[in-house]
Amino acid sequence: MQKEKLLYEGKAKKLYKTDEPRVLWVEYKDDATAFNGEKKEVITGKGQLNNEISSLLFQKLEDSGINSHFLKKLSSTEQLVQETEIIPLEVVVRNIVAGSLQKRTGLKEGTVLDQAIVEFYYKDDELGDPLINNDHIRILKAAQPQEVEQLKKQALAVNETLKEHFDSCGLLLVDFKLEFGRTADKQVLLADEISPDTCRLWDKATKEKFDKDVFRFGLGSLEEGYTEILKRLGGAVHG
Ligand code: C5P
Repeated sequence: MQKEKLLYEGKAKKLYKTDEPRVLWVEYKDDATAFNGEKKEVITGKGQLNNEISSLLFQKLEDSGINSHFLKKLSSTEQLVQETEIIPLEVVVRNIVAGSLQKRTGLKEGTVLDQAIVEFYYKDDELGDPLINNDHIRILKAAQPQEVEQLKKQALAVNETLKEHFDSCGLLLVDFKLEFGRTADKQVLLADEISPDTCRLWDKATKEKFDKDVFRFGLGSLEEGYTEILKRLGGAVHG
């Protein structure tokens, strides 16, 4: 398999075409960004940690019967994925109050929700990725109503598998963000990444934060937090 031209460079990853139709080559970068790119830093080793963690989690989901764009891990910072047309929605699932839910509702951080909730945000940097409802999704033509139902169902299924898996590793899955794409035959497929950049993960006993909030709010070392998550997931820690 040959890596070909750069197709897209995002905040955390680069996507390349390959010589294989509909197969993309993903490179995880060491760049850390927060608050819509306002806070930026290069953290050596971050790309590797996220690639390892994301590969393990996509594999775990596949073992539970949940498909994604993930095809295989190529190296410590690279993956092969199936090409999709990304649906411009961020699908957030929450089990525990934190972040923008805490701000929006005033509920106390750490409050356990009796049932997981799903939110949709419109992927648009200029607008600051606003929270939107089903009517907004319809007028924006971001997704078809039946696709929205599938996104919700699949996001909750991902939550069930990952919540249980993290729990068995001594971690609380507080919330996370997923992205989905459409395959060539218009099927909705889980895409992007699942990593401590996109999930809130707290120690079950102490509630210590190991995820990107460590970087967002300067709570300590991002590398140490992500390494702890990789270790608990049973992954190989490099260097
Ligand atoms: O900030 P907020 O509380 O809405 O974030 C909910 C979850 O979605 C968090 O786990 C956060 O890391 C993730 N998220 C993300 N990318 C964004 C916004 C939120 O991965 N652009």
